[in-house]
Amino acid sequence: MSTTLRIAIAGLGTVGAGTLQLLEANGDLIAARCGRPIQVAAVSARDRRKQRPVEFSATRWFDDPVAMAGDPDIDVVIELIGGADGVAKRVAETAIAAGHSVITANKALLATHGTALARAAEAAGVTLGYEAAVAGGVPVIKTLREGLAGNRVSRIYGILNGTCNYILSTMRDTKREFTDVLAEAQKLGYAEADPSFDVDGVDTAHKLAILTAVAFGCEVNLAGVHVEGIRDVSALDIAYADELGFRIKLLGIASRANGGVEQRVYPCMVPANIPIANVEGVFNAVVAEGDFVGTILAEGRGAGAWPTASAVVADLIDIARGASLPTFAVPAKDLAKLPSLPIEDHVGCHYVRLMVVDKPGVIADIAAALRDEEISVEALLQRARAPGEAVPVVITTHDTRGQAMDKALARIARLDSVLEPPRRIRIESL
Ligand SMILES: NC(=O)c1ccc[n+]([C@@H]2O[C@H](COP(=O)([O-])OP(=O)(O)OC[C@H]3O[C@@H](n4cnc5c(N)ncnc54)[C@H](OP(=O)(O)O)[C@@H]3O)[C@@H](O)[C@H]2O)c1
Repeated sequence: MSTTLRIAIAGLGTVGAGTLQLLEANGDLIAARCGRPIQVAAVSARDRRKQRPVEFSATRWFDDPVAMAGDPDIDVVIELIGGADGVAKRVAETAIAAGHSVITANKALLATHGTALARAAEAAGVTLGYEAAVAGGVPVIKTLREGLAGNRVSRIYGILNGTCNYILSTMRDTKREFTDVLAEAQKLGYAEADPSFDVDGVDTAHKLAILTAVAFGCEVNLAGVHVEGIRDVSALDIAYADELGFRIKLLGIASRANGGVEQRVYPCMVPANIPIANVEGVFNAVVAEGDFVGTILAEGRGAGAWPTASAVVADLIDIARGASLPTFAVPAKDLAKLPSLPIEDHVGCHYVRLMVVDKPGVIADIAAALRDEEISVEALLQRARAPGEAVPVVITTHDTRGQAMDKALARIARLDSVLEPPRRIRIESL
């Protein structure tokens, strides 16, 4: 490795351009902190002629980012193209095989191939940096891998998708429905034209799978994540949550239990007075619970050119300084293969909202379905009275096994007087 650290950037979109801007603006400070200069030695994107907010005409251009990744005159390859497979994966694999360290913001890649890439990188003696892949500018990987290294982490959870948090916060503030707020978020550029990765919980699942591996020193297991998105959250449920003293948040939650790991992504009710309930708009937050440190919370911007660039450059500075840590906190060859526990076995409280015909005997039928599954009701609300018409009935339960609730809800859904599929939202006691 030359004294100057030569980097190649694959992808010059939002994050790639932001990274170049940061390196340009803070070059002196970064060189001082690294003890050596950093040189952008090569770049690649699809279209060389595209207008970009950065100047790189004097930098070597590659039409093929994979060829760039294998170039011997490079020390570090920064992959900012995106996608779980295809060119991004080939860039990372080629760079590692060529003995180059890799930095990526690509959570889809890490969630899908993280274990294999970590093993390849560590076998090759290079670093795989991915701080930017989880919670953007919030340095949560560093916090877990370094700051909390002496702790046994029992649970980690967070708001990991700014688009969903923006939509849920705005629904609450404006009392509007999901589709309406999503359309506005798309206009404002907070949501993609195809929002499914965000609103269906996939992006949160990617980040949670990565966090789980770092927190518990286990293989990345995306298939083990139970995923539900926010499309079914209604303004009515948000209003009831407020009334009951909760906020609805899309959380990714990973916890150790019964020799395995639970990984859950779903919209849930959290007490309105705890810090994470008050993380609003596009902000992200991650909470970790360690046996000696207690509970810590990190909050900040989870996306955007500059916050994400901040995380990319933090990894770059580590590499320039010669700091190298196991990718997922323990050496990749020693990562545990922890069984993922099914959501049906998860025990927790539930909120259930039904739309029922207001007539005698309805509540008794619902209560019987709950009783037969040994579900203990904490509260039942039926305010509106409109005989013969549809009214909402809200039930909250004490701790219940997921499978018991599934069975009770299936039976309740079949009742003639229940007009819509029951809406269930889990209540998390955080
Ligand atoms: N945007 C964020 O706030 C954010 C936050 C955290 C993590 N990330 C992650 O960061 C990565 C990049 O995201 P982004 O938002 O910066 O994406 P983006 O704006 O769409 O940029 C993607 C870049 O990749 C280039 N590219 C695409 N296919 C290519 C190919 N076959 N060969 C060479 N270059 C190719 C594009 O080239 P052209 O410009 O020529 O089309 C573009 O410059 C993704 O993994 C994303 O999940 C993004």
